[in-house]
Amino acid sequence: MTPSWEPLTFYEWLLSSFYYGFGAENKKRLHGFILIRAVDIDHEIITLCVEEKHQGQGCGKILVKTTQKKMKQGDAMFLEVRKSNVAAQRLYTTSGFKKIGERKAYYTNPTEDAIICQYQNLVAGAGFEPTTFRL
Ligand SMILES: CC(C)(COP(=O)(O)OP(=O)(O)OC[C@H]1O[C@@H](n2cnc3c(N)ncnc32)[C@H](O)[C@@H]1OP(=O)(O)O)[C@@H](O)C(=O)NCCC(=O)NCCS
Repeated sequence: MTPSWEPLTFYEWLLSSFYYGFGAENKKRLHGFILIRAVDIDHEIITLCVEEKHQGQGCGKILVKTTQKKMKQGDAMFLEVRKSNVAAQRLYTTSGFKKIGERKAYYTNPTEDAIICQYQNLVAGAGFEPTTFRL
């Protein structure tokens, strides 16, 4: 379960040069998106979601891979994920993320621990483009 963000919050994030993201679309319909906050060499996945009817078709993996390709060599990416979110954990593990810690009772509604994961980009990348997202 992901937090429900207000549209205005998204809008403010996307106006900031610290945020960037990618959408996955097919025939001009958005099926999923990823939003990242990047400060210097550290990137953090703020949210990632795929429309329910399109889950399990590789969309989430493509969004993560696209982001990784845009990272520069030596950049790191972090995220938190609910302990019960098996689908997301599988996606992150198969995308090269490693568990580096836990945060007790990090989530509310329902209360749950978070697993913290890190991905270290060791290969040369293109460098991220901060304004790839369009509203
Ligand atoms: C998590 C989420 C983004 C995954 O996107 P997706 O497009 O369904 O994932 P993919 O089809 O690209 O699958 C990626 C991997 O996860 C696995 N996976 C996907 N759904 C799964 C499920 N329900 N149970 C177990 N594994 C699952 C796939 O088998 C695949 O593994 P592989 O690389 O070994 O083949 C999507 O389920 C979602 O939007 N969930 C709700 C929001 C959420 O939880 N976001 C993450 C917050 S941290």
